[in-house]
Amino acid sequence: MQKVLVTGGTGYIGSHTAVELIEAGFEVVIVDNLSNSYADSIDGVEKITGVRPAFIKADCASPQDMQQVFTEHPDIQAVIHFAALKAVGESVEKPLEYYKNNIYSLINLLEILKNRGGHLVFSSSCTVYGQPDVLPVTESSPIKKALSPYGNTKKIAEDILADTIQSTNKISGIALRYFNPIGAHPSAHIGEFPMGKPDNLVPFITQTAKGIWPELKVFGSDYNSPDGTAIRDYFHVVDLAKAHVIALKRLIEKGNKTPFEIFNVGAGNGVTVLEIIKSFERATGVKINYTLTDRRPGDIEKVWADTSYAEKELGWKAQLSLDEALLSAWNWEKTIDKQSHAKAQRGG
Ligand code: NAD
Ligand code: WQD
Repeated sequence: MQKVLVTGGTGYIGSHTAVELIEAGFEVVIVDNLSNSYADSIDGVEKITGVRPAFIKADCASPQDMQQVFTEHPDIQAVIHFAALKAVGESVEKPLEYYKNNIYSLINLLEILKNRGGHLVFSSSCTVYGQPDVLPVTESSPIKKALSPYGNTKKIAEDILADTIQSTNKISGIALRYFNPIGAHPSAHIGEFPMGKPDNLVPFITQTAKGIWPELKVFGSDYNSPDGTAIRDYFHVVDLAKAHVIALKRLIEKGNKTPFEIFNVGAGNGVTVLEIIKSFERATGVKINYTLTDRRPGDIEKVWADTSYAEKELGWKAQLSLDEALLSAWNWEKTIDKQSHAKAQRGG
């Protein structure tokens, strides 16, 4: 059985990917420093798959910690690297924390892989496109100046990967540029559980539906869109998790002499904030109390993906609907007790 290291594997996308990897027959080792997640998600992965992945609490930004992980598991063949800080607003206030955490983590992994060899799938983001001039965006659309230090860590990381993979035949790699993953595993055993007040739309919707927040603020109603609210490309996190397994299999099949590749991963449709609210209400039967407010600083107006390259090369296309994603997010939300929410809002 091939062993895969999943960094950031107790987090939102990492835990869903651990499930898909195990179901595809891989052995999973999770590393996470639990800075933005709980080890409980490993229980969820076990409930779904019947297999408990190995877990090491470690900091990917520490060279010693990462050496230790590979000493304990010398047979790791590939890494899916999710571990990163991802709060855009916080990154503006604490840029050095973001550069140190996100860039050192990647460099540490590449240093190790450069010596022993291996495959790497990296979490990049549509944030690298900024506000595109032409929609939908393809992988060769211009990369804009990053709007935040967080966004810049993704751009820099892609450059580091491209240069490193080009310089050695020991590492092969794929970066997936995610658009807006939402939803939870249909079992409701794992899902998104942000610490503190959610920044992202869907967790804010589900927590408002639950009564944790009195209302949802819709940021901006004067955008150039059919209903005036901003447009994004939302898609199911389970579809995203499956894209990682496909990318990993491609790297394993093609071997280490392949060039670094980048793929957009999204549904390929632009949807407004009000459409998301309507879809949530339709799928769950629960009404959302919302008000239209000012634009959020730093937000772009609209973005959605051209996913034809992923379809052609990976044979991957999002399968699950928006309603399914929103219903699964609600079913997951309902499993979280109020005490856990109180703990998360205190920051863990
Ligand atoms: P998440 O915060 O739930 O998961 C990231 C995990 O990494 C957390 O469990 C955190 O504790 C861990 N982590 C952070 N720094 C670490 C370190 N130095 N060492 C060990 N563990 C560390 O976030 P997510 O939404 O699952 O995102 C996963 C990846 O996908 C991130 O790289 C993120 O930037 C990227 N991404 C996410 C989105 C999104 O909308 N969620 C979109 C585009 C890209
Ligand atoms: C979606 C839409 C908000 C909350 C972020 C990161 C980006 C990438 C994806 C990682 C926007 C609106 C939100 C609320 C609202 N992540 N909204 N009320 O802005 O596309 O991007 O996640 O790489 O880098 O910036 O996602 O979920 O925050 O917002 O009206 O309470 O919902 O203004 O239009 P976004 P989001």
